[in-house]
Amino acid sequence: NKGKYDHYMQKEIHEQPESLTTTMRGRLIRGGGSRKPKAVLLGGLKDHLKTIRRSRRIVFIGCGTSYNAALASRPILEELSGPIYREDTAVFVSQSGETADTLLALEYARENGALCVGITNTVGSSIARKTHCGVHINAGAEIGVASTKAYTSQIVVMVMLALAIGSDTISSQTRREAIVDGLLDLPNKVREVLKLDEEMKDLAQLLIDEQSLLVFGRGYNYATALEGALKVKEVSLMHSEGILAGEMKHGPLALVDENLPIAVIATRDACFSKQQSVIQQLHARKGRLIVMCSKGDAASVSSSGSCRAIEVPQVEDCLQPVVNIVPLQLLAYHLTVLRGHNVDQPRNLAKSVTTQ
Ligand code: UD1
Ligand code: M6R
Repeated sequence: NKGKYDHYMQKEIHEQPESLTTTMRGRLIRGGGSRKPKAVLLGGLKDHLKTIRRSRRIVFIGCGTSYNAALASRPILEELSGPIYREDTAVFVSQSGETADTLLALEYARENGALCVGITNTVGSSIARKTHCGVHINAGAEIGVASTKAYTSQIVVMVMLALAIGSDTISSQTRREAIVDGLLDLPNKVREVLKLDEEMKDLAQLLIDEQSLLVFGRGYNYATALEGALKVKEVSLMHSEGILAGEMKHGPLALVDENLPIAVIATRDACFSKQQSVIQQLHARKGRLIVMCSKGDAASVSSSGSCRAIEVPQVEDCLQPVVNIVPLQLLAYHLTVLRGHNVDQPRNLAKSVTTQ
């Protein structure tokens, strides 16, 4: 049921404040002073956390958007998980729980004795059944072929996983509590960023006849660049490519001229100054820029050259990909409608890829 919306993709983009809330329901402990620290509780993993913590390495497996979600969560998992040893843990990320490639990797991992953990949206799916344990993302049914709300819920679950397997050392306590606070407030921040809907529709109108859109990201938001580009190409049928900003001078810079639209993700985090210098270099080549920046930074990032700024609320760095993908989802949606293509059922694609 699409309710008041024209398409499932549109409905699923707009219901992210609610789907994120259900993803976190009952799983965050608000804490109360030093005696009861803020923490997470993942029911599906509680009997396996010790084994996961002891593993030699943790490998994440997923396709498409699920791959991008794992990539977005990798830095915080690396930061918070302590030293690990012994056998492997393999984490299978899949909205449908039926993707053939992911299932094949699951069979391989099981045969080789790894502990297999699922992160799935579909209760009773093949991946949910065949993994040893796991976490349901509880985002609610996702009908649109383009994955939107599952992506943001997958990231939230993997951040919670990082908190769950991380050792609660004093040194990381402040950081961990800031992330829990950030998670609790995330649905509000997503609600705020959804207000950019009209602005993204205007931007889509400007881009309607373009052949291509490049998206530059770095650090936590390299995954945002890949996922934003995947959304645009998948539904609007416009070529789009997510590019690691650090690679710019190793090839992509040759494409830059006054016509090719380039989105640069430059929200505040440890990569901000590097992204500022990318923006300056693109300005110097008269690039046609769309810069995603934190609230209050629009004037400084678009001070020179042809540039359009998209301001988003700033959140904890590891949660910023959840906020930053939303304007790109909206852009992909509006581009598709304006270009007259099928939003929920793009040509040649199926919601779940059950054959190889
Ligand atoms: C579970 C209940 C939830 C209830 C809550 C109350 C289910 C599906 N969930 O949620 O309705 O409100 O307890 O405490 O009944 N699993 C896998 N692979 C996966 C995903 C999950 O093996 O890919 C396993 C988990 O290890 C767990 C079970 O499925 O044994 C349920 O997982 P999940 O729904 O995430 O657990 P809870 O959040 O505890
Ligand atoms: O159901 P899964 O998460 O395993 O699906 C993986 C990909 O097929 C899927 O994310 C695909 O890339 C989406 N259509 C992207 O929007």
